[in-house]
Amino acid sequence: MKIPFLSKKQSEVPVPYLNDIVPEHIAIIMDGNGRWAKTRGMPRVAGHKEGVSTIVKIVKKAVKCKVKVLTLYTFSTENWKRPKPEIEFILKLPKEFLSIYLPDLIANNVRIEAVGDMERLPAHTRKAIEYAMERTQNNDGLLLNFALNYGSRHEILNAMKEMFLDINNGKFLLEELDEQKFSGYLYTAGMKEPDLLIRTGGEIRLSNFLLWQLAYTEFWFTDILWPDFSEKEFLQALEVYRNRKRRYGGL
Ligand code: FPP
Repeated sequence: MKIPFLSKKQSEVPVPYLNDIVPEHIAIIMDGNGRWAKTRGMPRVAGHKEGVSTIVKIVKKAVKCKVKVLTLYTFSTENWKRPKPEIEFILKLPKEFLSIYLPDLIANNVRIEAVGDMERLPAHTRKAIEYAMERTQNNDGLLLNFALNYGSRHEILNAMKEMFLDINNGKFLLEELDEQKFSGYLYTAGMKEPDLLIRTGGEIRLSNFLLWQLAYTEFWFTDILWPDFSEKEFLQALEVYRNRKRRYGGL
């Protein structure tokens, strides 16, 4: 069933206390789908399906709060270890989601992007994402970034290989290498680093997510399982962020 998205008009209504310090880039590890389903005596995949409804709610809220980038950990390089039917189910969800919501996303000026190794994904997943990227490339509202077949160590190794090739080919000197240059080789090149990381589902770990990019990110963990995560907790995380002092190693 389609959950109503957000009319253009609504997205222009400001959220009262959130007009000052809203994180520009929020990254989310959406954990707890399997457990959510299990506690209801349902198959794990029912949790992933319900997880998509949470995505819809949170994207809608992010648009309203004028968040600039929302990166969602959708499928990790380690998720290939799961049973094949579960993998297939998860990888069908982007297409399903986009076939329903792309028009709403376009109407709300959302731009779709993806980070990760897209080559190994099934063609239907890749095509759905690429089509959405193309259709939304000129939008300048929320950047909705799906981490798909994403693994941070893989990303860093890949970046190093490409970078050393460029150095060998004389594009620049090793001495000229700095953090900014290296960042340009990551999937997230040109993207602001996350200001806030949210992880649902009670685990306190990063699970190979954005290891380079999260160096100075504020973390917020909750026991709430992703399908139960709502706008209320999202706003709570934003409120916690608002009261954090970011010193970046300074005083
Ligand atoms: C973690 O929960 C969740 C995932 C590995 C998949 C999340 C993917 C989606 C919700 C689909 C997104 C699709 C779109 C719209 C792009 P888990 O299964 O590890 O939960 P558990 O820890 O309770 O087992």
